[in-house]
Amino acid sequence: MPQKSPLIAIYPGSFDPLTLGHLNIIQRSLKLFDSLVVAIVVNPNKQSLFSLEERRAMIEEALGKDRKRVRVDSFSGLLVDYVRAQNARAIIRGLRAVSDFEYEFQMAHMNRSLYPDVETIFMMAGEDHFYVSSRLVREVASLGGDVSPMTPPNVHRALLARFPRKEKP
Ligand code: PNS
Repeated sequence: MPQKSPLIAIYPGSFDPLTLGHLNIIQRSLKLFDSLVVAIVVNPNKQSLFSLEERRAMIEEALGKDRKRVRVDSFSGLLVDYVRAQNARAIIRGLRAVSDFEYEFQMAHMNRSLYPDVETIFMMAGEDHFYVSSRLVREVASLGGDVSPMTPPNVHRALLARFPRKEKP
């Protein structure tokens, strides 16, 4: 009997840094796909808080037991070219608020027109994570707020090292 090729999905993003919302999407994607590639976009025009290597290492550490079926990689250029090269069947994106929808809708259609064989699968953010974004996590951490409920412990430690919290008077 011919061997079925494994179902691979790509979960692209900036992951600057990884949040518990991302981790939730990764865990749920693994119920649908044999393996997942977390693909960190390399965008020289966008300044990031953490370097590519730091983000990759943080994601790998946070994956824990899921590490066996998840590969952390980076890509530059068009996402669909990367998806094709990886022989992947789907792009995974998390959807939080309605405000995410327009941008995600445009990207999904653009990607499908560039590469008709790819499907974008949207996952609704878990109810504990619908307000969590990397941008807000960075902002709150930089201002001394507690982001431990929204980040894996190793990411929280990295944020504390970057933005030491001052003692409140
Ligand atoms: O986590 P983000 O920043 O929302 O992720 C955005 C990402 C990486 C999915 C998007 O910027 C992307 O796909 N970039 C690669 C370049 C590309 O293919 N652009 C056309 C998208 S339609």
